[in-house]
Amino acid sequence: MKRTMSKEENSKDIEMHADFGVENKGFDQEGEDGSKPAEGEGETTSVQLSAFEAADGLSELDYTPIKPYAGMPKEVLLQYSTQACYRLPREILFWLTVLCTLVLVAVTATIIALSPQCLSWWQSSPVYQIYPRSFQDSDQDGVGDLKGIQNRLDHFVYLNVKAIWISPFYKSPMKDFGYDVEDFREIDPIFGTMEDFDNLLSSMHDRGLKLIIDFIPNHTSDKHVWFQRSRNGTEKYKDYYIWKDCESVNGTMTKPPNNWVSVFGNSAWQFDTVRGQCYLHQFLKEQPDLNFRNADVLKDMTDVVRFWLEKGVDGLRMDAVKFILEAEHLRDEPQVNPQQNPENITSHSELYHDYTESQVGLHVILQGWRQVMDEYSTEPGRYRFMVTESYDYEEIGRTMMYYGTSFVQEANFPFNFYLLDLPESLSGRACYDLVKLWMSNMPKGYWPNWVVGNHDNPRIASAVSRKYVNVINMLLLTLPGTPTSYYGEEIGMENIAVSEDQIQDPFGKFDPSENRDPFRSPMQWDSSPNAGFSEANKTWLPVHPEYQTCNVMMQRNDSSSPLALYRTLTALRDSELSLHRGWVCLVWSDADVFAYVRELDGLSTAFLIVLNLGNGSTTDLTAVVPELPREASVRVSTLPGSKKTVSLAAIKTERGEGLVLEYHTRQPIHEVSRFRENCFVSEKACYFSALGILYKNC
Ligand code: GLC
Ligand code: MG
Repeated sequence: MKRTMSKEENSKDIEMHADFGVENKGFDQEGEDGSKPAEGEGETTSVQLSAFEAADGLSELDYTPIKPYAGMPKEVLLQYSTQACYRLPREILFWLTVLCTLVLVAVTATIIALSPQCLSWWQSSPVYQIYPRSFQDSDQDGVGDLKGIQNRLDHFVYLNVKAIWISPFYKSPMKDFGYDVEDFREIDPIFGTMEDFDNLLSSMHDRGLKLIIDFIPNHTSDKHVWFQRSRNGTEKYKDYYIWKDCESVNGTMTKPPNNWVSVFGNSAWQFDTVRGQCYLHQFLKEQPDLNFRNADVLKDMTDVVRFWLEKGVDGLRMDAVKFILEAEHLRDEPQVNPQQNPENITSHSELYHDYTESQVGLHVILQGWRQVMDEYSTEPGRYRFMVTESYDYEEIGRTMMYYGTSFVQEANFPFNFYLLDLPESLSGRACYDLVKLWMSNMPKGYWPNWVVGNHDNPRIASAVSRKYVNVINMLLLTLPGTPTSYYGEEIGMENIAVSEDQIQDPFGKFDPSENRDPFRSPMQWDSSPNAGFSEANKTWLPVHPEYQTCNVMMQRNDSSSPLALYRTLTALRDSELSLHRGWVCLVWSDADVFAYVRELDGLSTAFLIVLNLGNGSTTDLTAVVPELPREASVRVSTLPGSKKTVSLAAIKTERGEGLVLEYHTRQPIHEVSRFRENCFVSEKACYFSALGILYKNC
């Protein structure tokens, strides 16, 4: 039976299609047997709806019209696909798709091959060092702590700083303020609890901040359980430290095993009454040296590395690495002055440290730790960073060894302490020499870094003069590589005066001229009592007496303050490609001025940085570097607003003034042969201005 559907019925049935299926003869032009349908048959559609039938009691229903193509089944499609008019476009489309895919793969591979590596977090941000006793106290005991640091995290966001290194906060008797560790897996109660640490780390990660912590492999505290077991002869721990027979009378050493002297002064040997032998300590007697020739020690310390990496810390600063191994023969070290009476040798500087520093095998240990860190670095954005601490003074080649080789990676960089020598003879030339020293000795392709202060060295603002605070921060933040700032440097904090009877530092107790307390005073946050550092009656070290005129709060409100400059420079560094990954060319130095260019191939904007580290002077760069334009505009100045443009024929700078000058050029200085020796780049990359992208192999 056939009937034509009313409008109402039609809409009802279309809904039903979805539920019960459709047999759409309208497209079965050839029929199942391949025969052509009779004319007119294709226009109507027969639909069988069993459920509908049951409800209506109708045996067969035909409805017209149903939209063409609706519900076209696969069999029907396949019948069409064999027709010539469909086959050709299909083949064309198929091969076009194949071609496009191949082109896409080739383009992607080329882009990947040509793209320079993205800078990792430890390359793109300055590293800010916190001395936890002195940053912020949260529990009114006069000593800074982890919760205090957490309360101050906004400071780093404000500074555009994303990498924070916190000096030790492990359980410790505090003989060397935390560098004498009693338990590597516990937080000292003075700093808080493990929960505080976990909270701090997760709040840091929430804000995109990375955490670097200290790893102190050379020694433990004498209170560490390993040392306790070692001295009482527990089998496994017997050789965890370096023991040697020595002469003693009534528990006091009368003749040490050799002439070795501790970094902090006097013999590096101490008699232990429990074991009846002497043990080696390259630092305090309360910091016995671990014996890394014992495989169990290496394993236990590697487990400590894993413990903190598993907790999620982003980097390790490896403390005092050059002392990790000593010569097994324990021979006397040569005297600097052979005429000196050996009995009178008490100071570390009186010996050459041929047998107690930088021994063969040291780098293998560090490379092993780097490998462990690599295991934890596979997730994107979770690269674990490693920096080593070793003062090698004039032996810069030794420092560079911590970069590893092209085959085996070691530290991402060893700390570059050479700028700490600046105060010795502050001048444009001296600064040029120190920058060149690092850049020309660093193995090709590695990443530089710069340190102008830390908890072991006088604050630069005091060591030179307050006048140079800004220009030194400008140097730090415009050189290529990673800058490191010690807390307070951003506001130009100065050393405090500590009288001899008030000295807390063990090194200072041995030799007051070596006292490190002056540069460890509380952070100056604001003008309130204790500079906003603590609400205690007394802080562990006094706050600088001039904190009311030098603090974060005041400087935040002053656009010409060191803090404002620091912030401008960190932001500039982030925003300008040539500053964070371009060339540096050292173009000029004299007694007063040091000048260098930062540029990137393909980018027409370049920067000329002119720093006055001496007295007021006028520099003419046109004769020495005629490739530079006649004029440049002032992008940043330590004396903001003083001038807008500068003629390169007469760059006037006052004592301690620094300028970041911007100019446009088609003539990169690093391509000028005269400057080739003075130009350095870590990972060469070029800018393709038409597309606004960077590429390598240029
Ligand atoms: C490192 C630390 C220093 C400490 C010494 C011993 O040099 O920076 O503060 O006293 O190691 O651990
Ligand atoms: Mg506290």
